[in-house]
Amino acid sequence: MHQVIERTILAPNVSRLVIEASRIAQVRQPGQFVIVRRAEGAERIPLTIADADPGAGTITLVVQAVGKTSCDLCVLVAGDTIRDVAGPLGRPTELIERGRAVCVGGGVGTAVVHPLAQGLAAGGVGVTSIIGGRAREWVIFEAELRRYGDVRVCTDDGSYGRHGFVTDELRDLLDAGAVDHVYAVGPVPMMAAVSELTRGYGVATTVSLNAIMVDGTGMCGGCRVKVDGQSVYACVDGPEFDGHSVDFRQLADRLAMYRDVEREAFAGSRCLVEALAEAAGVEAAGVEAAGVEGPA
Ligand code: FAD
Ligand code: FES
Ligand code: MG
Repeated sequence: MHQVIERTILAPNVSRLVIEASRIAQVRQPGQFVIVRRAEGAERIPLTIADADPGAGTITLVVQAVGKTSCDLCVLVAGDTIRDVAGPLGRPTELIERGRAVCVGGGVGTAVVHPLAQGLAAGGVGVTSIIGGRAREWVIFEAELRRYGDVRVCTDDGSYGRHGFVTDELRDLLDAGAVDHVYAVGPVPMMAAVSELTRGYGVATTVSLNAIMVDGTGMCGGCRVKVDGQSVYACVDGPEFDGHSVDFRQLADRLAMYRDVEREAFAGSRCLVEALAEAAGVEAAGVEAAGVEGPA
């Protein structure tokens, strides 16, 4: 059992959970994730280790409620428990050791790039983060990322930062030169667009693939993705890969495989998401806008 120490609502459908996981906190590295099972018989889902405090023996997870299981986790509060937290899983990020990196985060992917920015800055690499959300209230982790360098914010509706997509800001940085590597985490179309853009500039790009995972150990085949024409498993061979070699279309198709069943399972949890949105101080109607079209 892993106790929830703290729960903060970051955005209308995004919660930050600090949970007890002492061993994982000691050994986790940037880019790694855990597979969480809230209770006996519940579904297992992968979540990135957004932060860790080895002294306190805690890790931080940032969860976006996009379906039944993520919603059940988002509504946990301090004192609740999570049955299993398996990890750390996945290969740690290959961080560049000099020069300037741009970390691009879309939606909840912003929390996922946080440990990368942290690791890069600790190694002496210059970091610029570009983060995006559909509107001001969905922009998360801005203050945390500012600890590691410059942060540029973009919103789809222009309510905060630049009115536009993260790729617009990235294009300006690429045009100005001096970008050695781009790390991008977010919805599949965003990672595909970032990779397409950087390809034209010849700038190496790492993306973190959010394939469907069950066991996280290379046994079930659920997270199969195509990279450089080869089938690999995101859980053990990734989750990070060269964005210029990923078959994003196949990834998007596989992510949609169970959508009908998922929508049905989520129907009963909508009231919980609305309660979260209210707690976040925004119109519950905004949750509809946040949609269930998929996580980062
Ligand atoms: P469902 O309604 O079951 O599914 C909604 C959509 O989520 C599906 O259409 C599918 O695209 C995807 N999905 C469903 N089941 C899984 C699964 N078992 N594994 C992966 N994707 C699934 N989300 C966060 O909010 N924060 C994170 O830090 C985070 N890190 C991730 C790290 C990795 C390595 C991966 C692979 C995914 C990560 N995700 C993260 C995505 C998260 O796992 C899914 O949003 C979650 O599993 C959805 O489950 P659900 O039951 O709530 O939604
Ligand atoms: Fe089962 Fe990767 S999650 S093989
Ligand atoms: Mg599910």
